[in-house]
Amino acid sequence: MPGRRLAGTVMVETKKLMRALAGEVQAVPPVWLMRQAGRYLPEYKATRARAGDFLSLCYTPELAAEVTLQPIRRYGFDAAILFADILLVPQALGADLWFVTGEGPRLSTVTSRADFDALKPADAIHETLAPVYETVRILTRELPDETALIGFAGAPWTVATYMTAGRGTPDQAPAHALREGEPAVFDALMARLTEATIDYLSMQIEAGAEVVKLFDSWAGSLKGEAFARYALEPAKTIIGAVKAKHPEIPVIAFPREAGERYVGFAKATGADCVALDNSVSAEWAAENVQVDGCVQGNLDPRHMVTGGQPLIDETKRIKAAFSKGPHIFNLGHGITPEADPENVHAMLEAIRG
Ligand code: CP3
Repeated sequence: MPGRRLAGTVMVETKKLMRALAGEVQAVPPVWLMRQAGRYLPEYKATRARAGDFLSLCYTPELAAEVTLQPIRRYGFDAAILFADILLVPQALGADLWFVTGEGPRLSTVTSRADFDALKPADAIHETLAPVYETVRILTRELPDETALIGFAGAPWTVATYMTAGRGTPDQAPAHALREGEPAVFDALMARLTEATIDYLSMQIEAGAEVVKLFDSWAGSLKGEAFARYALEPAKTIIGAVKAKHPEIPVIAFPREAGERYVGFAKATGADCVALDNSVSAEWAAENVQVDGCVQGNLDPRHMVTGGQPLIDETKRIKAAFSKGPHIFNLGHGITPEADPENVHAMLEAIRG
């Protein structure tokens, strides 16, 4: 069992998530869910109503900590993920950000040199993001001893897709247009986001995050050389810089829909674990990705809506496929508002027995 040496004694790592990230193969894998704090839970909706709106919830540490803890109390997941959003970083850099109910995020856009020049420097983000660090500090006191605390940020490419379009897009066309049409502006934006992400993750770690995750939700629209330049390289830079300051902190990378570009991604970037979406089969990923170390994933989130025997069968199949290496059970993407909270219990029963 991996342990840390402290003043002549060996501290045995008891958290299942940390053990998987250190490479341990466990008969029952640790489990948590992307978006585990969210609108499928009535207690989340009640706290969000108290906060008034989503961004007020993110910036009110007591309430953000409360919604982080809700799925831990209800399900006993092996990890809690800090409640915040990847789009708080652009807001902290000076972009306007608001959420349209039923539609999603809206931001002021960066599509020219003048827009870029109006952004704040990376080290200015902490003024806006200080409440997030306070949420982390509250959680380090309130989480059960066996629950690991995950901090996170959006990867530069994914955050840049929202900053260039001003909203979510099906094909990330505005970001592709800017990187091709104005490469100097786009590269400057990527560099600013990379620096801000390093600072942001480092502050979360200093506040008490034990693991950090980098969400590159739109990595799948980058192919070939563009994938290397805008997904792999920034991840490598961020992971290298975070680990230079905090070598003991494991990093989970999620280049969603990378497909065959998942192969070798952990080795190339220094990530301790690669999170898999549900477009790749667990059997393929065990053979081609898990050979390099821990993987996370990858149940289709639709099973949380539809439930029944297919949910049980798929859960067991994924657990079995990854049983020969280190594995963290999760979905391939976030749980959706239509999910039935009872289906999460059924999934946990299928994993833990
Ligand atoms: O429980 C957790 O996973 C932690 C909190 C968390 C949220 N967003 C809360 C949230 C995390 C880790 C994120 C990451 C995030 N945010 C990503 C990357 C992961 C992914 O899903 O691909 C992205 C792309 C965003 C940007 C974002 N935030 C969008 C596109 C939306 C609107 C879509 C939606 O689901 O409403 C959000 C809003 C958001 N972030 C909600 C939550 C719980 C819903 C807000 C609400 O309560 O109305």
